[in-house]
Amino acid sequence: MSAEQVIVNKGLEGIYFDNTSICHIDGQRGILLYRGYNIHDLASNATYEEVCYLLLYDRLPTKDELDQFDAALKENRNLPSAVMDVIYAFKDGHPTDVLRTAVSALGTIDPDVKDMSLEANLRKGIRLIAQFPTIVAAHERIRKGLDFTPPREDLSHAANFLWMLKGEEPDPDAVRAMDLDFILHAEHSSNASTFTARVAASTLADLHSSVVAAISALKGPLHGGAAEAVMEMVEAIGEPERAEGWVQEQLAAKKRIMGFGHRVYKTEDPRARHLRELSKILGEKYGEPKTFQILQNIEKAMEPMRAKGIYVNVDFYAGSIYHYLGIPADLYIPIFAIGRIVGWVAHILEQYSDNRLIRPLLHYVGPMERQWVFIEQRS
Ligand code: SDX
Repeated sequence: MSAEQVIVNKGLEGIYFDNTSICHIDGQRGILLYRGYNIHDLASNATYEEVCYLLLYDRLPTKDELDQFDAALKENRNLPSAVMDVIYAFKDGHPTDVLRTAVSALGTIDPDVKDMSLEANLRKGIRLIAQFPTIVAAHERIRKGLDFTPPREDLSHAANFLWMLKGEEPDPDAVRAMDLDFILHAEHSSNASTFTARVAASTLADLHSSVVAAISALKGPLHGGAAEAVMEMVEAIGEPERAEGWVQEQLAAKKRIMGFGHRVYKTEDPRARHLRELSKILGEKYGEPKTFQILQNIEKAMEPMRAKGIYVNVDFYAGSIYHYLGIPADLYIPIFAIGRIVGWVAHILEQYSDNRLIRPLLHYVGPMERQWVFIEQRS
């Protein structure tokens, strides 16, 4: 094929690389479906445990099925002592790096690591969904010199995470906020970290290795790192009345405003409305409406960018929710991962189920046929 005939889609923009039945996104109309269910219905009615079941088994669970699934998560919340040792050893590391390292360690000792059957991969996936909160919370306590707070089987997934993180009975509003945040972050089709997981799975790498790859991709500020960057922006602005001028200066300097824009959504990210509402409620509940006000003024200042299809995305309000829950900024990416692990697992299983090695092309534009020169002749 001649160079003129090659079409390069940088960043694989607009390229469909497979079929999926896990998630549908309509970027023009701002629609998001998990296994056909609208994100607004799930946000208003489901629990994270229900959404996990739906994403893994492609249907909503009966009461008994949900109870069994919930019990399986609770049974698997603890970490092997060797993995706790790893968390201690790397306690001063960035929480995302510690999460990635702990998952690597889990993969080296998982009893099913060599078993690639669907049953074994589901067992491994459920173990990781259950263990992610424990890894993140254990590291937070250990790096602060606090005692590890063991998981409790009488608490839901979100409540147990807050319990392990803080060592105190979690506030029901905080639990609801955390549960909703996990639901909204659970799945989003072939985003960069999920695509990375599918590339690894397409080589038939095991589930833990594919998840480690996904965590690595999530860490970047253009993907999972945006929520942390949004709160740094709020900090820099300081006061609601300074937001408009600050945004205009950044845009004039061709800087990006974190929490805005999306490769697929060219209208408001449907997840944002739930996080915006939650941020408002928590700001009032915890007596600190200023953060929410600053965010609202940023959003208003960004309205002209809508003409370019740049709207608020899932990360814009997420950081303020973690802030209101008293969670440090360097935990925002691990919390995104606690929500997204189920989406990664669902996609890894889907990739295994009808696999074709993912191996796109790069269009070579370098020199051709250069003659070898011996070192004595080189200048
Ligand atoms: C997530 O893919 C997913 O599904 C991800 C996610 C998920 O659930 O997994 O939804 C989660 O990662 C959300 C995105 C979080 N990241 C950010 O908020 C970082 C800031 N946003 C951007 O950098 C950007 O919008 C991207 C990376 C998200 C998408 O960028 P694209 O599709 O590659 O768009 P682009 O870089 O080609 O930008 C097109 C134009 C450019 O202007 P021009 O050069 O054409 O004049 O839009 C501008 C960009 O400068 N632009 C922005 C902007 N984002 C794009 N301008 C100002 N602020 C921004 N945030």
